[in-house]
Amino acid sequence: MSRDATDTGRGLSRRGFLFGGAAAGVGAAVALGVERTLPAQRQAELDAAGLNGARTVAFHGEHQAGIDTPIASHATYLGLDLHDDTDRAALARMMRVLSDDASRLTAGEGALADTEPELATVPAALTVTFGFGPELVRRGGGASAVPSWLGALPAFDIDALEDRWSGGDLLILVSSDDAVTVAHAVRMLLKDSRSFATLKWRQDGFRRAYGSEVSGTTMRNLFGQVDGTTNPEPGTADFDRVVWAGDGWLAGGTSIVLRRIRLDLDVWDEVDPVARSFSVGRDIHTGAPLTGTREADEPDFEATTAAGNTVISPVSHIARSRPVDSREVIFRRGYNYDVAPTGDGVSESGLIFACFQADVDAQFVPIQRRLAEGDLLNTWTTPIGSAVFAIPPGCEPGGYVGETLLG
Ligand code: HEM
Repeated sequence: MSRDATDTGRGLSRRGFLFGGAAAGVGAAVALGVERTLPAQRQAELDAAGLNGARTVAFHGEHQAGIDTPIASHATYLGLDLHDDTDRAALARMMRVLSDDASRLTAGEGALADTEPELATVPAALTVTFGFGPELVRRGGGASAVPSWLGALPAFDIDALEDRWSGGDLLILVSSDDAVTVAHAVRMLLKDSRSFATLKWRQDGFRRAYGSEVSGTTMRNLFGQVDGTTNPEPGTADFDRVVWAGDGWLAGGTSIVLRRIRLDLDVWDEVDPVARSFSVGRDIHTGAPLTGTREADEPDFEATTAAGNTVISPVSHIARSRPVDSREVIFRRGYNYDVAPTGDGVSESGLIFACFQADVDAQFVPIQRRLAEGDLLNTWTTPIGSAVFAIPPGCEPGGYVGETLLG
């Protein structure tokens, strides 16, 4: 069961995500027929649901919210480390309390013993999503409960990882269209996790504000690129196959790979639009593949120029990241970050790259490996943080997230 925000005016297009199966140039890149409604064709609509702040997204359900639900403008990712004495029983207590907080806050009510309940009344599509690192799963269910893909990713040559953005035992992902709501929920959840865990890192991300663009418009990252075009569509069989895990305590759950990727905007500034487009394989202005005219057009990796070179470079980002078989697909859901610069630069910005998939090793790692081996975008991007979490399934009222492991 997937859920939607209580919203009738979002104009989200239904995007078909079909796997052609046939090789389509550039090595064995799979032809992905993508049928979508272009932003230019969508009609801007008034928010028919009334004030956006009143919108709620159900916390309870088969899957946790915040994965296949409409993406909100603000997201805060919290990585916590468990205290040494937080054992299995304590983990169950912690997840009961945090799930209770999340169910109340997402419904627009104060948490139990909320110190500022006034701030809880504007949920603005608030979601809270929990993820478990390998140590939490081991303490909760023993070594055999830890999925083979749960742990640090293999080392990649492009990485310059910093511990302050990496790892963690518990992930709490809070997102909403309202930053005040996020701040309040984050504070309540951290207060209630204090006896069990300590905050290791916090990453704040943003996209365009709700209402600034027609909902469903593909986001632009801080390079100005249209980012998120080729992605499975929630609610389709392909999405379900790509994202939801089927086995054991994780059935109905998934995994998240979180990569903090620094964008060197100061150097990118020197790159002209032609080179910017070439590096991705898509037009920087429209997001259309270099072999097409509209964002939704399918890239033709075999089309050549008069000089005999492929129009889309084999080392462009889309040529390198395109799945080589239908198994190797991920669901990306990224956010921008922008924090105070250090040193001489005027910016310290990047992408909180997040993707969901049933199996990290089978789906994410091969793509990341190819990108690390060769991708023109690497010139201006550096992964500085990395974390992987198992995302348990959702729970029903009265239950709690993680009960399939800890119950
Ligand atoms: C800062 C780093 C990155 C930037 C700025 C970036 C940007 C983009 C852009 C602009 C596109 C084209 C439009 C679209 O389909 O979304 C794209 C596509 C894609 N990216 Fe990235 N990306 C980054 C990192 C990554 C990483 C780390 C992965 C996975 C390991 C990845 C996987 C993909 C995939 C699978 C596609 C779709 C390819 C296709 O057309 O089939 N990207 N990215």
